[in-house]
Amino acid sequence: MSEGPLPPLTAIPASLRSLADYEARAPQHMTTQAWHHIREGAGREVTLRENRAAFDRIGLLPRAMAELDGDTRIDLFGRSHASPILLAPLAYMCLAHPEGELAAVRAAAALDTGMVVSTLASVSLEDIAAASRSLSQELGRPPAPLWFQLYLQPEREHSLQLLRRAEDAGYEAIVLTIDAGLKPAGIALPPGVDAVNLAGMPRPRQTSVPGGRILLGTPLTDAAPKWADLAWLRSATTLPILVKGLVLGDDARRTVDEGADGLIVSNHGGRVLDGLPSALDLLPAVAETVRDQVPLLLDGGVRQGTDVVKALALGARAVLVGRPQMHALAVAGMPGLAHVIHLLRTELEAAMAQLGCPRVDLLGPERLVALGA
Ligand code: FNR
Repeated sequence: MSEGPLPPLTAIPASLRSLADYEARAPQHMTTQAWHHIREGAGREVTLRENRAAFDRIGLLPRAMAELDGDTRIDLFGRSHASPILLAPLAYMCLAHPEGELAAVRAAAALDTGMVVSTLASVSLEDIAAASRSLSQELGRPPAPLWFQLYLQPEREHSLQLLRRAEDAGYEAIVLTIDAGLKPAGIALPPGVDAVNLAGMPRPRQTSVPGGRILLGTPLTDAAPKWADLAWLRSATTLPILVKGLVLGDDARRTVDEGADGLIVSNHGGRVLDGLPSALDLLPAVAETVRDQVPLLLDGGVRQGTDVVKALALGARAVLVGRPQMHALAVAGMPGLAHVIHLLRTELEAAMAQLGCPRVDLLGPERLVALGA
């Protein structure tokens, strides 16, 4: 008889000391299918590996005996963030933990950390915002930054409904993901896990299989964003708009010219098109083009504080973490994810102290060296 996954831990054991520890433990707490879905990259996973390898090719250069009275706060769109680390949008967080996005947003609020909620969240966007607000209130703090990630829907009217709901629920920025139209992956959703925010809209094409439904490709594919869609979105909201996906050279400039307020340099965690370079390798060129105009964020492969340092030194204002959220939720729910955010933040602070750098905006390429060169 096969045994099911272990339930989430209710206390954090001392053996969990890094994001790698959570990742190593996560498979025990998930179905094999959920684990593979979360872990996998497209094709032969060249891009997935590059996302990590790019960080590992870079070394750090410390400054001796610097004054170290600083912190990791940053400002984004007029809002203070406790650190340059945000939670990336992830579909169906209930695959990792029964409370899914609610557990995630409580962890984010507890650590005063920005979270980007996916269109494909498995909890309603209103409930997620309410959970965030109520925990912040309980803690006597202003609400933690909450952004909404928009997948354009085949019907503009449905995209507009999502946008208005996000605005009404208090989301502070819109992240337009532009690369998912290419995404080939499918997943069997277990009963009870669904894209609840798309109720009443055309759903991802599904077929029933024992134990779940396979998403065969989605109407998102039909709705892959075009330049006109960005112009439409710009005219439809006054919230800051960030464009998420690989945006190269002239495209980066055009994205900003068309009204984007920020860019998230990302290859969707290596899940879209195998062979794309790592986001980190492409960041300096994008930074050269538009960093003076809009903040650049980066995701893909960020797993430790020194990775954050490297991304910031190459021109990112902040980073987002994806899969580690699912690992942490599966292993230990809300406290697990709060611990992971805390680990990343303290690792970042330790790295900056060891580098002799008091503030994140002082990080630049002169702190970096190519390893093995
Ligand atoms: C994602 N990603 C993603 N992006 C997005 O814009 N909307 C989404 O719904 C999802 N869903 C999603 C599910 C899962 C399981 C994964 C692993 C990723 C991409 C995500 O936001 C981010 O770009 C990458 O996960 C970053 O890479 P790392 O941190 O996972 O290496």
